[in-house]
Amino acid sequence: MTITDTQHRPLRDLRISVTDRCNFRCPYCMPKEVYGRDWIFLPHGELLSFEEISQLARIFVDLGVQKIRITGGEPLLRRDLERLIEMLAAIGGLCDLTLTTNGSLLASKAHNLKSAGLQRITVSLDALDDEVFRAMNDVSIPVVRVLEGIDAATDCGLAPIKINMVVRRGMNEHCVTDLARHFRHTGHILRFIEYMDAGHTNGWRMEDVVTAAEILAMIESEWSVEPVQANYRGEVAKRYRYRDGAGEFGIIASVTQAFCGDCTRMRLTADGQIYTCLFATRGHDLRRLLRSGACDADITAFVRAIWHRRTDRYSEIRSAATIGLDKVEMSRVGG
Ligand code: GTP
Ligand code: 5AD
Ligand code: SF4
Ligand code: SF4
Repeated sequence: MTITDTQHRPLRDLRISVTDRCNFRCPYCMPKEVYGRDWIFLPHGELLSFEEISQLARIFVDLGVQKIRITGGEPLLRRDLERLIEMLAAIGGLCDLTLTTNGSLLASKAHNLKSAGLQRITVSLDALDDEVFRAMNDVSIPVVRVLEGIDAATDCGLAPIKINMVVRRGMNEHCVTDLARHFRHTGHILRFIEYMDAGHTNGWRMEDVVTAAEILAMIESEWSVEPVQANYRGEVAKRYRYRDGAGEFGIIASVTQAFCGDCTRMRLTADGQIYTCLFATRGHDLRRLLRSGACDADITAFVRAIWHRRTDRYSEIRSAATIGLDKVEMSRVGG
């Protein structure tokens, strides 16, 4: 089945956050001043169970979803995640099952994730230098832990891996070419992400955004590159390849080159709220519906009605007025 919104966009991707917790405190996502000792995370009873997530995922696949991405917070903090992966991998009609992680716990978990049926993985990595890495995530986990995670994922067949680097002015922009050099010739795909005004706790300013054009210029100062056609309509990263055959990289320019026109993504939070935009100010309570005994047909009708009236195109209409909105936090909707 295909359902479309007011802009004729089909529902194709579901991003499922399995926890609001994270062992990092990236100031652009979970600044310590907000997510400190006193912060109250969701109690276990408020999280959707794996059975509930699977039931919803099946409904979404019947509505046209082809790709599911597991996110967090940090998804590998959710106990027994492999069991959920196994349940999702068994859903017929799903083409792509993947996960985005900060990589810090990946070395010991990659093998079981792959065995459970995970097809791909994306690892966030903002620097290769421990000092810069620490400034970007505000905890003292060494870069090598993440690199070991990437190696383990590669060894067990989750490669090629996508590596996400958020670029922030004055913080890690000088690391762009270091990361590019590190991942050339590895087969992995490094993607540079423009820093976004997600949530309302990171104090985002346009001056802190290193634009796609600037990032590309940095790469081109070292290597000759050329654009590559998108893999599929709506791919968020613009693809490039090194002309010397060293592989490909991508740039995700959601601030300077918005891609809302092709946005086919729904987001499900760990406590069962659905959001039709990464920058939405409110979600819709699927958990209440689920736990009130609604049948699959009721849930389907609820989701279909929400998607049907969807108008979101935040990144295209971003302005001084929208930046201050009380938007959902990235750690709740999983990026
Ligand atoms: P592939 O399936 O490998 O193409 O992955 P993807 O690029 O769709 O997923 P990923 O989670 O790796 O996305 C990378 C980053 O792009 C996210 O962390 C966000 O920063 C940004 N992004 C993804 N989806 C959206 C979106 O719908 N809107 C905006 N503004 N940014 C998004
Ligand atoms: N801007 C851009 N990307 C962000 N991410 C988290 N917060 C932001 C932000 N404000 C990225 C993470 C990770 C993914 C889940 O989202 O680095 O790669
Ligand atoms: Fe955790 Fe990812 Fe947010 Fe960093 S960006 S605090 S790793 S969820
Ligand atoms: Fe989709 Fe909203 Fe991102 Fe635009 S800003 S691409 S509508 S999630």
